[in-house]
Parts: sequence; C-alpha cells; structure tokens
Amino acid sequence: MPSLLEIEALRVEFPGEDGPLVAVKGVDLAIEQGEVLGLVGESGSGKSLTCRAVMQLVPEPGRVASGAVRFDGEDVLTLGKSKLRDFRAHSVGMIYQNPFGSLNPTMRAGAQIAETLRVNRGLGRAAAKTEAVALLDRVGIEDPERRYRAYPHELSGGMAQRVMIAIATASSPRLMLADEPTTALDVTTQAQILKLLGQMRAEEGMAMLLVSHDFGVIAQACDRVAVMYGGHIVETGPVETIYHNPEHPYTRALLNSVPELDSAGNVQRRAALAGHPPELSDVIPGCVFAPRCEFAREGCETVSMKLEQVGPDHHSACPVRPFAGAAAGGAEAAGAAPQAGRTEG
Ligand SMILES: Nc1ncnc2c1ncn2[C@@H]1O[C@H](COP(=O)(O)OP(=O)(O)OP(=O)(O)O)[C@@H](O)[C@H]1O
Ligand SMILES: [Mg+2]
Repeated sequence: MPSLLEIEALRVEFPGEDGPLVAVKGVDLAIEQGEVLGLVGESGSGKSLTCRAVMQLVPEPGRVASGAVRFDGEDVLTLGKSKLRDFRAHSVGMIYQNPFGSLNPTMRAGAQIAETLRVNRGLGRAAAKTEAVALLDRVGIEDPERRYRAYPHELSGGMAQRVMIAIATASSPRLMLADEPTTALDVTTQAQILKLLGQMRAEEGMAMLLVSHDFGVIAQACDRVAVMYGGHIVETGPVETIYHNPEHPYTRALLNSVPELDSAGNVQRRAALAGHPPELSDVIPGCVFAPRCEFAREGCETVSMKLEQVGPDHHSACPVRPFAGAAAGGAEAAGAAPQAGRTEG
C-alpha cells in the first residue's frame, strides 16, 4: 500500500547569478492516511516550499528541479492542467499563517465558502449557501447566518482562520497542508484552532502536514515529526521519540532553545541556538549544520545528509551520533514538556 503522500528526493531551486540556488535539497517525506506529520525548523529551512511543491505552487522563478510527489501512488508533478485542478480542489486543502492574505477583502466570508462549494462540488446557489452556513457552524463560528454576511475585516484573526479552514475543508480533502496556521494568533485562539484541526482529523480521518517552528504546537498536535534545516530533513520519528530522545544535534539544540515554565510558572529561557541558519547562497560542504554544531569534528565536511535508521521509525542524518544511546533528550533534561504558544514568551 502506498502512503497517502510520498515526497521523494524533492529539490526546489531558484535561478542565481552563479547557477541555481537550491532551497530544498533532496527531501524525502511520507504521510500515512489520517496521520499528522509535523514539519519543524528555523526560518528559511524550506518548510513552506516543501508544502507548496506538493500543490505545484512553488513561486516563480522557483521550480521543482527534480524529485517526485505522489498522492495515493499517483505522481502529482506530471498532472495535466485539469487533473491538477481536480487534485487541488478535492484531494488537498491548504491553510496559511495569515488568513487575511488568502481571503478576498471585498467579498463576504460566507460567499467565499459558497463560491468554493459551487466551483469544487458543483453545488447550486441555494445549496452552496446552506452548506456554507453549515460549514461555518462546523468550524465553530457562532451565529453562522450572521457571520456568513461579514467581510473579512469584520472578523478576528481566529475567526478568519476558521473561515479559511471551512474553505480548505469544503471538499473533505484527505490531506491538509497547514503552514504555520496558528503562528499569527494569540495563545488561546491558537489552542482552539489546533483543537478544531484535531477534530476534523478525528471525524474525517484527514491527514495533515503541520508546519511550525514551535515545538510546543508540534508536540500537541502531531504523531510524527520531521526536523528541517538548510533544505534538508535532518531527523524524523514519532513525536515522543524526537522529544525525549532526539538524535540529531540540531533537533537537540532546537528543543533546548524552547522556553519552558518552571514549577512556579515562570518562563525559563533555555540556551538559545547560537548563530544563524545558512543563506541560500552559502555553499557548505558535508553537513549543513556543522558550522553551528558544538559536536562537529573532522570529517563532518565530507559526510552526506542522508537519513539513517537509528531506532524504530526513527531516522537521523548525523553519522557522528553524539547522543547515541543517551536516554534523556535536551527537553527531558529541562523537566517539562514544551507548551504550545510559549516560544514567543
Ligand atoms: N520567491 C522566492 N525567491 C527567492 N528565494 C525564495 C523565495 N521563496 C523562498 N525563498 C528562499 O527559499 C528558502 C526556503 O524558504 P521557505 O519559505 O520554504 O522557508 P520556511 O522554512 O518556510 O521559513 P519560515 O519559517 O520563515 O516560513 C529561504 O532561504 C527563502 O529565502
Ligand atoms: Mg514558511
């Protein structure tokens, strides 16, 4: 049985003066039916481009240079125009960090949902309106009849994101690509939106790729995690494993930089991750994380970034394996689980 989504050796490039600038450097990912996979990493690591590549929405002049994306075993990178339209309309939904950026400011919220239903599901005017109100209700918007007539600027950020979720789930997609869907929201609203997405998954068996740079969000919502750095996946595994027993020095550093609450409820900042992620134009031989890695040693500049199995369903791209066999991860040593929404604390 193929996975619901399989991304294989995905490479995304932008043209540069001295040859292509490679933003996604051979990413492999798989998502099973109904599974929530978290994609975590610092800014610029290639998370959004990976999502966009699945939808064939890499912004120009960027392009998928090589690799494969398969949905239910079918290659989506070679789909013709009409099949691609069907794929985007029925198989996959996408939500972004800023819902206002995706909503049409001149059109009533409900009408935007109804429009999606008319185009994607071929509903007539009246049926689309009835269904849109039902969808607003389903995504937890109170007084849906009244909110149907609201313009986006009359909605709070949380409500606008709920409208986006209603649009993205209007055709009951089997996969949701959620690119930092809660980053722009306050902590309470963030928790509500995560709960709503969890509900959709429970009710419809919808799988999700959830992008975040907040390990708290990932810990709360995901089954498995992929950690991304400099265009590479550096570690994948079940969320519990990654959290309690991270293998890759980058994952460990990322977990250590998550602020935590001490027993008195005060925010304790862990050591911040020193240095900066690489620029697209930086050419780093061997391990891309080596320049920031406190465990880097001779030979790291010649290793490949290939994921190797280090445990059950657990893969890491660091052949040095400085923490191999260590029971406690950085976060466990800190004594408390990361809390969603507190990384900005
Ligand atoms: N349209 C573009 N033109 C040129 N470079 C781009 C473009 N879009 C993205 N990039 C570059 O590709 C790299 C990966 O970008 P991407 O948006 O996927 O990162 P990200 O992991 O989603 O970051 P963030 O957490 O900030 O959203 C970055 O270095 C970015 O500067
Ligand atoms: Mg992004």
